[in-house]
Amino acid sequence: MKDLIEFEWDVPALPGAEEMLCRAAEECLRAEGIRADTYAHLRITDGESIRQVNREYRNMDRETDVLSFPSTACSPQHTLGRHEKWLLRERDETGRCFLGDIIISLPRAREQAAEYGHSLERELAYLTVHALFHLMGYDHMNEQDKERMRTMEETALNRAGMGRITDDELIRLAKEAMEFSYSPYSHYRVGAALLSKDGRVFQGCNIENASYGATNCAERTALFKAVSEGVREFSVIAIAADKSAPWPCGICRQALNEFAPDLRVIVAWGDSRDQAMLYELLPHGFGPSSGTLDYLGKE
Ligand code: THU
Repeated sequence: MKDLIEFEWDVPALPGAEEMLCRAAEECLRAEGIRADTYAHLRITDGESIRQVNREYRNMDRETDVLSFPSTACSPQHTLGRHEKWLLRERDETGRCFLGDIIISLPRAREQAAEYGHSLERELAYLTVHALFHLMGYDHMNEQDKERMRTMEETALNRAGMGRITDDELIRLAKEAMEFSYSPYSHYRVGAALLSKDGRVFQGCNIENASYGATNCAERTALFKAVSEGVREFSVIAIAADKSAPWPCGICRQALNEFAPDLRVIVAWGDSRDQAMLYELLPHGFGPSSGTLDYLGKE
């Protein structure tokens, strides 16, 4: 996925930043539903150079943090619908879809990172994500558009593990996952969104089976996705269902307890929500240390 962004550094390159920015870019395209082979050009420069570009192309003789120029060969339609517009898009001579150019001022990004109290890499990721959504037709001219763009930015950054995710957002992601529920037998749709300690979100839904016992709950789908990608530490899970409070079943409590006995569990159904800690839902639970000789020796 590294070639999703073509980098041009006018300033000394930051080791590690490219991979992180590509991960953020990948999540932007995923959030927008783009499956086509796309890329953007990102130039990271100094204050004076961005000022020159701003003057030349936008008639604004001042420094700024980020500029984006959508490509004319591949300009997005200004409808904010998902999927369709991108699958039919024009490709350039390389056979890929060029989204456009982004320019970021490194000194400005550094100042903003200090102001917001996060890392320079996180600020660069935010600016890149913001610019990419501009390239994909998003804008913030009115409140509604601004809100839409902000939601997309947060979704991409959270999924790339670079956001500060709120309970509302985690519940929204659980509801989003619920849309993929495969529940032709119970018709009880469940979605889960599991937040790892490093800020990544893993979504899952319940997946039923004609042989009922082979059914997998939403929580375990999310958990197994995370663990199978090397992630084992979690802070919160949101579980959503349509009808009644989807408190996790006994098997899911046990499965989650293996990795995160101090997990906060949020359940959301209709307009209601409730929460509890996993150790309250599974008191005296059997965990990784329970079966050791150490533990048995205490008895
Ligand atoms: N289900 C979950 O996804 N999570 C739970 O913790 C409770 C039950 C699903 C399994 C099945 O597909 C449906 O809800 C009805 O039992």
